[in-house]
Amino acid sequence: MSDIETNQAAIRDSFRDAMRHVASTVHAVTTLHDGERHGILATAVSSLSFDPPSLLVCINQAASLHHPLTQAELFAVNVLGLENRDVAEQFAHARGADRFMVGEWAETHGAPVLLGGQSALVCRRVDCHRFGTHTIVVGELVAARHRQNGAPLTYYDRSYIDISGAPVSTI
Ligand SMILES: Cc1cc2nc3c(=O)[nH]c(=O)nc-3n(C[C@H](O)[C@H](O)[C@H](O)COP(=O)(O)O)c2cc1C
Repeated sequence: MSDIETNQAAIRDSFRDAMRHVASTVHAVTTLHDGERHGILATAVSSLSFDPPSLLVCINQAASLHHPLTQAELFAVNVLGLENRDVAEQFAHARGADRFMVGEWAETHGAPVLLGGQSALVCRRVDCHRFGTHTIVVGELVAARHRQNGAPLTYYDRSYIDISGAPVSTI
């Protein structure tokens, strides 16, 4: 292996380790395609702008959701709460539409929304940018629902954790 290849491999390992220790909220990103439900778990989700209200999701081009999502008019970002761990486990272990067999799902705003989730953010897809292995999909919100007093399901060091404890300080 050349020095450059060794360096790239070391950077990738350190990057993986660094990201493994970043606590991230777990989302179920979903859409409808030809009348079928599609969805994956995603932590690479970020709010983007408040004017217009918008967010972005980063989806691996090899994921089953990639084609449906990059064709979709509408998609939903379902923020999972601690009590939605069974939904996260179903998404991780089942495939295709079977992922929606746990939890109560409805397409009220044109994309699969988890009724018992912490928040549901339904978006119109407005932009896609391919970068490396992933596509950044930008969505503008068309509907949003949030359950007060929820606690997010958080992924940290390959486990689900509860971050709802007392704050260490206020900002
Ligand atoms: C906690 C967690 C977070 C994930 N975050 C992302 C993500 O942000 N983007 C992504 O493309 N895949 C992410 N994945 C992987 C997808 O959920 C999915 O497993 C993978 O794309 C394969 O899905 P498929 O079998 O539907 O193709 C994550 C998986 C887990 C368990």
